[in-house]
Amino acid sequence: MANKTINFENQSLKGTIKVPGDKSISHRSIMFGSMAEGTTNVTGFLPGEDCLSTIAAFKQMGVKIEQNGTNVKIESRGMDAWEEPKDILYMGNSGTTTRLLLGLLAGSHIHAVLTGDESIAKRPMKRVINPLREMNAQFSGREDGQFTPIAVKGSPLNAIEYVMPVASAQVKSAILLAALNANGTTVIHEVEKTRDHTEKMLKQFGVDLNVEDKKISIQGGQKLKAVKVDVPSDISSAAFFLVAGAISPNSEITLKNVGLNETRTGIIDVLQQMNAQLTISEVDDSNPEAIGTLTIKTSDLKATVIGGDIIPRLIDEIPIIALLATQAEGTTIIKDAEELKVKETNRIDAVVDELKKLGANIEATDDGMKITGPTKLSGASLRTYGDHRIGMMNAIASLVTSGAITIDDPDCIAVSYPTFFEDLQKLSQ
Ligand code: S3P
Repeated sequence: MANKTINFENQSLKGTIKVPGDKSISHRSIMFGSMAEGTTNVTGFLPGEDCLSTIAAFKQMGVKIEQNGTNVKIESRGMDAWEEPKDILYMGNSGTTTRLLLGLLAGSHIHAVLTGDESIAKRPMKRVINPLREMNAQFSGREDGQFTPIAVKGSPLNAIEYVMPVASAQVKSAILLAALNANGTTVIHEVEKTRDHTEKMLKQFGVDLNVEDKKISIQGGQKLKAVKVDVPSDISSAAFFLVAGAISPNSEITLKNVGLNETRTGIIDVLQQMNAQLTISEVDDSNPEAIGTLTIKTSDLKATVIGGDIIPRLIDEIPIIALLATQAEGTTIIKDAEELKVKETNRIDAVVDELKKLGANIEATDDGMKITGPTKLSGASLRTYGDHRIGMMNAIASLVTSGAITIDDPDCIAVSYPTFFEDLQKLSQ
């Protein structure tokens, strides 16, 4: 793992790019395509390492999956035809693969063991294991299923009514997938509305489910029908270039085909609140997942307060929002974001520690951080903690530092954005 040194001091960014496919939707396209009987064709798939872990797991269960760049063809005879994997299923860095598979396998006929990398081994799994056990799921795992490796032995499940203690789309999705194989109607109450790709996509695959604000009901025993899935570009990847365009001098960046699902667009609200020059055009909401074109130009930014129900709508964008706030006038407060502590790494500590190394005026709080700006940052040697989004935050910071930035593990960015440095280079020419 070689270090990478980058220096984009005073660089303006110009041009049009299409960032890679949405990670959440790409995972689900493989899972739901593997559950459905027939052929599911996927376009715009994200060939990032996390989504490749999902493909590998289903291939090990005998599903025929051909992936060619951003095109994927899944041929399945339905869930009943899945085979028990002959080896452990390796989740890599992917929390979404791990948690959704635990839900999906809980009510199947499959025995499997799930494990992943160093980061996965630290991520809390009880949040999915607890509700699934209430449904009669059978797990054994390290510290009673708190952590991977976790073994699941598929068993008959019963529906539950569950009030979620955390705002998590992964937990909600794991329960919904288990509920499809359970006896009766499962009802989930969310604390905050989280990304709803599972609900939207299950409907697309022919499942009947009822959503009333934060209450979701789903009847067990339903089968999925194969469909065609067009994956939009990932707004969480676009976010890095939205911020890059807002903070680097004389810049104008256009991002095409970006997913604009309203459970994901908190970053747009924040950029607007902070006085960024952002325009949204070519909006197409004729499909379940809306898309549009985003154009961002350099502007003078002002601080804001971010907390409450917007947090799940921008949870993955907080590292890059923190960098944005270092360039805004005033004190930005990010609160109600404790969930950052259990992401790929503790993102409160990682963001604060790395931005401090650049000279930012930033401090950690119990549930977020406070950042005062604008500050001229200086180059330094930064760590990624193996976390793709910390890696990209570090790289984008180089647009506003005097002097170079060295990043210890740039390869980790391939988890969600394998062509990140190529796109950055393209915009800087
Ligand atoms: C995801 C849900 C979120 C998000 C993650 C992807 C998903 O995690 O941070 O990157 O695809 O469902 P939580 O459910 O832990 O909030």
